[in-house]
Amino acid sequence: MSFLPIDGRAYHYRDVGQGRPVLLLHGFPLTGASFWPQLDAVPKGVRLIVPDHRGFGQSARGEGPLSIDGFAADALALLEALKISQATVGGVSMGGYIAMALLRADPSRVDRLVLIDTQCNADDEAGKAKREATAVEVETTGLDSLVETMLPKLLASKAPDEVRRRVEELMRSVDPKTVAAASRAMAGRPDSRELLSRFAGPSLVVVGTEDAITPVAKARELAALMAGSRRVELEGAGHLSNLEKPEAFNAALAEFLAF
Ligand code: MLT
Repeated sequence: MSFLPIDGRAYHYRDVGQGRPVLLLHGFPLTGASFWPQLDAVPKGVRLIVPDHRGFGQSARGEGPLSIDGFAADALALLEALKISQATVGGVSMGGYIAMALLRADPSRVDRLVLIDTQCNADDEAGKAKREATAVEVETTGLDSLVETMLPKLLASKAPDEVRRRVEELMRSVDPKTVAAASRAMAGRPDSRELLSRFAGPSLVVVGTEDAITPVAKARELAALMAGSRRVELEGAGHLSNLEKPEAFNAALAEFLAF
């Protein structure tokens, strides 16, 4: 088990395999364990690094509000501590927002980008208000209503029961105060279209064709911004395509990393 102390907090990460570094950042409201099919099958020649964002999984929360930039700063501190000057940086949904924040903070660290079931747009006013309502609801009543409303959107209706069970377990493992703070953090993220249009490295955009949160159109918009981007649409997967179609996802990632 690996922890990095950052500002007196313990930041937990998984570091599996040897070779070209790939940092994968998890979505909301999950933990790094939500990359289990990738952690169990790291391609030869790849070093997969998967942190828990502060407050999630085994990473301590620390003081103050959460922000997407703060999550990205932790991930950058981890790369620095591991002496990784450049990595492929990827993320699922909120993890994608964090990958974009990391790119904004230090483009020199990002060799390739992998954006999975995510989007480049900021929230509009209605979206921000929804985030605040989610935060208040979770703070006052706990996670039940979020699990009830969000779980069916995270996964396609045909997702395996075992995946559904494990995703629910991960959602329920996070402190409601952290979930509320992360909801507010997502509302504060900027638009990243200009940032992505300036990214000159190789990029991979993956989306489930049944993604109900960041649908295929969002992935197409993302891919169109980046010159030469590869786009993979995983048939029948929902918002957590890396869990719902793990073999196809892993094959797409391995192929992207190998070229
Ligand atoms: C996620 O999966 O990380 C969230 O659904 C992202 C979002 O709500 O924008």
